[in-house]
Amino acid sequence: MVRIVGLGAYAPEGKLSNSDFEKFMDTDDGWITSRSGIKFRHISSPDEVTSDLAVKASEKALRRAGVSPEDLDMVIVATSSPDTLTPSTACITAAKLGAGKVPCFDISAACPGFLYALEVASGLIGTGRYRYVLVVGVESGTKFIDWYDRGTAVLFGDGAGAAVLTEGDGEYGILATYLQGDGRLGNLLKIEVGVAYPPGSWGVRMKGREVFRNAVLQMGEAALEALRRAGMRAEDIDWLVPHQANLRIIEATRQRLGLPPEKVYVNIGEYGNTSAASIPLALDEMIERGLLKRGDNVLAVSFGAGFTWASALIRWG
Ligand code: COA
Repeated sequence: MVRIVGLGAYAPEGKLSNSDFEKFMDTDDGWITSRSGIKFRHISSPDEVTSDLAVKASEKALRRAGVSPEDLDMVIVATSSPDTLTPSTACITAAKLGAGKVPCFDISAACPGFLYALEVASGLIGTGRYRYVLVVGVESGTKFIDWYDRGTAVLFGDGAGAAVLTEGDGEYGILATYLQGDGRLGNLLKIEVGVAYPPGSWGVRMKGREVFRNAVLQMGEAALEALRRAGMRAEDIDWLVPHQANLRIIEATRQRLGLPPEKVYVNIGEYGNTSAASIPLALDEMIERGLLKRGDNVLAVSFGAGFTWASALIRWG
């Protein structure tokens, strides 16, 4: 079974509170908190790019794994806010880490990108051709934000999380995964940056209510499907680690599974929606706080633009 042998995360120092938004936008702390659960979000500085965040998270993950960058056999970065369209943020990150020659590529799967990357890495490790694979979920998505669009600007934040994966001894690791998507609903949430959009028109566009409805539905489905694939029930779960997009979506997912609140990890108040970084950011915080124990069954679940949704059930250790 494929295991996570080291995990790390990083959030930029720059931070915006809800009251910072009150100074230039028709909004208030009460609205943002009650609708989303968000209090703060970390913002990358103008000279800080996505790969810089990825490197900081990766260095921590490598340190914890006791693996040096030259030992990596592959680098996969999940992001919707790459430094450049090409080279990939994975190639830039690998070079900055000093990984030398190594296969490297990005995955574009929005918020569930980290879980998509876990699945891809697991499959490739299973071929026996790659021993250590670095998987990163990272975003500097606030660089695309229209700071005057109150429907989106208050929701997103920047951050990075990374994991070193390798084949384990069979007892601990990724027990089950589930990936799904439906491109027919892509127009409901978009980062309009690319050949379809002329420079100057770039931005994040979202139909909040429709996204909310779909997120509630698919987060629940994804969680239940990973449980089914692992032959487990919700009560076997020690931790639900949901994508941190909206506290009310998290709460609906918790209720669908019938889990008590103390089994759900929530840090949206501090980071906002960091898209592909949100799950590894949460896992890193749980490690730092001594919450994750060897043998814990951790169910990670996410939903995002595409639409894409995914889950992974991990026996921690
Ligand atoms: N401050 C104050 N008012 C705001 C606001 C803000 N930052 N943003 C929007 N509003 C207003 C709207 O303009 C609307 O006003 P109107 O009724 O006069 O048009 C009103 O608040 C209600 O908007 P509504 O969309 O019904 O609010 P909501 O309860 O759905 O909450 C979101 C809005 C965006 C928080 C919510 O829809 C959401 O979280 N959606 C999912 C987002 C998400 O998770 N995206 C990423 C998925 S990975």
